[in-house]
Amino acid sequence: MTEPARAPAGAFDNVARYEAFMEVVRARMTNRAFAPHTVPREHFELILEAARHAPSGANAQPWHYIVVTDDGAKQAIGQCFVDEQQHRARLRMGFPTPNYNGVKTAPGLIVIVADFRFVRAFPVLNDGSALDRLYRENAERILLQSVAASTMAAHLAAAALGYAVWWITAIGQEDIQKQVKPLLGVPDELAIIDVMCFGPPAKPSYKRWKKRLDQIMSWDRFDPAQFMTEAQIDDWVRNTRHRVMYRDESKID
Ligand SMILES: Cc1cc2nc3c(=O)[nH]c(=O)nc-3n(C[C@H](O)[C@H](O)[C@H](O)COP(=O)(O)O)c2cc1C
Repeated sequence: MTEPARAPAGAFDNVARYEAFMEVVRARMTNRAFAPHTVPREHFELILEAARHAPSGANAQPWHYIVVTDDGAKQAIGQCFVDEQQHRARLRMGFPTPNYNGVKTAPGLIVIVADFRFVRAFPVLNDGSALDRLYRENAERILLQSVAASTMAAHLAAAALGYAVWWITAIGQEDIQKQVKPLLGVPDELAIIDVMCFGPPAKPSYKRWKKRLDQIMSWDRFDPAQFMTEAQIDDWVRNTRHRVMYRDESKID
């Protein structure tokens, strides 16, 4: 595959290209129900070609993407999420969960696998000590961030093609891993950490609330006005979360 032309040295104000990029960034919106569609193989390749270029700690590239096209497998994976959602409801976790049946009909379904054995690519003592545990946790965080960076590139590529996307992590539970791994032939040593769904939306996607730039940005020192106390966070969870998760930003009162 030929690499695209690089920007000439010194061209750091390519606003037109930035705007084209931002159009894709803004257009990436979560949708949880899709219209029937057949995603050509080429589109999966275009999307994962973007994932391939992501940065990663130690350049370990600890990711693997499984494109799921088999309808039976899609049904089974979707059902795992539906069951998990019902399990959470029974536990009264109070998390506003969406309808995961949409996974079963997602035209594009990609299961994301991480290889945490790459912790050994980072400074770890491997002696079982408390210090070793700290370094190990840090190494795991590096790997998780690396896979997220790659996954994000895939989501943006799908958005660039015009698809609605859905990033699902509700998979941490052991039984989901146990059910999905054999279905897709994933070796035990690896971890399924995410599922990416995409396709034409069943209903138009809507833009969710995003913090303003000044709320997420400080110059030189952390802006204390942006620090939230735990009580404020609890309040956010109680009174705001449900509104920003499933509502159009323009319709929030
Ligand atoms: C790391 C991560 C995990 C997520 N996990 C789930 C999930 O398990 N289920 C789900 O329905 N949506 C999940 N989402 C989607 C978010 O709910 C969604 O991105 C958020 O509400 C903002 O909406 P937007 O993507 O349209 O900007 C996840 C997103 C990210 C980045």
